[in-house]
Amino acid sequence: MTKFQQRVFSGVQPTGALHLGNYLGAIKNFVELQKKYECVYCVVDQHAITVDQNPSELRSNILEVLASFIAAGVDYKKQIIFQQSSVPAHSQLSWIFNCVSRIGWLNRMTQFKDKAGKNRENVSVGLMVYPNLMAADILAYLATHVPVGDDQKQHLELSRDIAQKFNNDFGVDFFPLPEPLIYGNATRVMSLRDGTKKMSKSDPSEFSRILLTDEDEVIISKVRKAKSDSELIPSSTEDLNSKPECLNLINILSACLNKDSSETLRSYSGKEYSILKKDLGDSLVQIISPIRKEIHNLLNNKDELSNILSTGTEKASAIANPILADIYKIVGFK
Ligand code: TRP
Repeated sequence: MTKFQQRVFSGVQPTGALHLGNYLGAIKNFVELQKKYECVYCVVDQHAITVDQNPSELRSNILEVLASFIAAGVDYKKQIIFQQSSVPAHSQLSWIFNCVSRIGWLNRMTQFKDKAGKNRENVSVGLMVYPNLMAADILAYLATHVPVGDDQKQHLELSRDIAQKFNNDFGVDFFPLPEPLIYGNATRVMSLRDGTKKMSKSDPSEFSRILLTDEDEVIISKVRKAKSDSELIPSSTEDLNSKPECLNLINILSACLNKDSSETLRSYSGKEYSILKKDLGDSLVQIISPIRKEIHNLLNNKDELSNILSTGTEKASAIANPILADIYKIVGFK
């Protein structure tokens, strides 16, 4: 693996306002990683259309995700942030991967099974080959490290399988086997209404999630109304684990404070939920408030956003196009 230059790649789908789970599970790590690595961050609009999207909402969501990256601290001057569909190498490589990847592999993907459900005959082909496109995203840059939430671990394993099979089939050592980077406590931020479900933009209850665009009072009131129980905060990790809502609040606060959850638990055990919720609300406001303001500033400056996007397209293409040209030679297209 040493022959590969270390490079980080990750993507976020533009399917609605970003929430705390996206921030703590992904974007916050994106910001950390740029201290150590060359990073390529992508707004994956082609993944978004694997399920129906409204075109004008998609258009504005793409800009909102881009603005959120920047507002959260991704350095678009040093690193690369761009829109997937603006670099055709992703689709071109994904076609090759459609021919490397196996139907049996895709059939095993739990996210596909969950999303398709009983509707398997009627979902888009794109939804099924989604992980092949994700492999193309990563491998078009020969990326070695991929920060993802743990729901994407299986997709990343599939990317490794594709890279490995390609290398074997063509007798080359061309693709690195990309490694997941999965962080800390809050990689799984759960719903504030149900501690066993992931925080999600598709949950019907707005009180289940905190958005990066929520006003301070809204954040505080969502935290205050978060589901809890009438007991005091437990003292052992074992008891905490049997209370998913409490565990979630402790985990989120730990992630905000960059602390271990056992340490956070120690400071709150035996206390009332209202105390924990007050501190959590304050911490979240401190983190989200400046991000929200910067998102609004950027969204009011569409020219700047579109300049940032074109620079991103150029920088991303400059890496991906020569790699794709080599792949075309290996495959026999050239
Ligand atoms: N599938 C990822 C998600 O929904 C998004 C994604 C697309 C991605 N391409 C990627 C993540 C490449 C990491 C690397 O979260």
